[in-house]
Amino acid sequence: MIRIFGILTGLFFTIAVLWSWGNDTYSGFVEPAPETAEHIYHEEAEGPEGGFAHEGLFAKWDYAQLQRGYQVYKEVCSACHGLKQVAFRNLEEIGYTEGQVKAEAAAWQVPGIDGETGEATLVDGTPTDYFPSPYANDIAARAANNNAIPPDLSLITKSRHGGADYVYALLTGYREQPAALVEEFPGTKTAAGQYYNPVFHSLNISMAPPLTSEGQVTFGPGNPDPTIDQMAEDVSAFLTWTAEPTLVKRRQTGWAFLAFLLFATLLAYFSKKQVWSRVKGGDVGEKTALDD
Ligand code: HEC
Repeated sequence: MIRIFGILTGLFFTIAVLWSWGNDTYSGFVEPAPETAEHIYHEEAEGPEGGFAHEGLFAKWDYAQLQRGYQVYKEVCSACHGLKQVAFRNLEEIGYTEGQVKAEAAAWQVPGIDGETGEATLVDGTPTDYFPSPYANDIAARAANNNAIPPDLSLITKSRHGGADYVYALLTGYREQPAALVEEFPGTKTAAGQYYNPVFHSLNISMAPPLTSEGQVTFGPGNPDPTIDQMAEDVSAFLTWTAEPTLVKRRQTGWAFLAFLLFATLLAYFSKKQVWSRVKGGDVGEKTALDD
């Protein structure tokens, strides 16, 4: 009796689940959700032409590019965005010398203690300090940015789908808002303090276009022209390095490991041949115990 009761209960729940699933699927087909402005106008993030040096089979860091990217971060983005996971001494990993890192660090002001009064103050950075945040706290950050907080950029290429491609596309994605969009979806009209950018998930972002003119940053001799495109690409590469400094090393270790596996497989194959040659080879002549 109890068994029948159990089976019936199970059957009831199975039918209930199947029914609600079928019902939802059916109505999904019959009455699809209305298209939103984001559906229609959102643009997929595309990376720069030719991709980044740290991508693909022969991934490597392009140190000159990473240094240019650092320069763009320092001169443009750092006004609003922190980089709190990165210490000045880490810059040695992208080709700066110890002396250059000391000079770089000293050019930044970091939170410290006044040696005489003991009060909190700002002091020159040293190589072991981390990049300072431009705002004292989130409230100050919001107050200065149309109620949006500029996120810390240390891990941004890891935390956004598309990584460096996304950052590049976002920086170069600002446009005039299409009139047809506003006509169809009046609610999405870019508000004061916002900017239309179809790469951003909600189409309107509270970051004013940070890269607006060629030559905004001056690159040293031997570097490409600082076009908006170039600056965007360089800073995106730099932010990939801040998020994943071991990326290239990991890929190279992967290749070395694959080569080792291949070698070990060949070795195993030839030693197997060698060990079994007397048994299987027809040219041995002698009968072995296994032939009987
Ligand atoms: C004047 C301040 C300001 C400057 C300068 C600035 N940003 Fe921003 N940034 C913001 C604000 C504010 C947001 C948050 C926008 C929002 O959520 O609508 C933001 C958001 C972002 C985001 C995250 C977008 C997302 O998907 O959430 C990235 C990436 C970014 N900025 C990169 C940069 C880079 C790279 C630079 C330098 C080239 C830069 N920003 C310069 C204010 C700034």
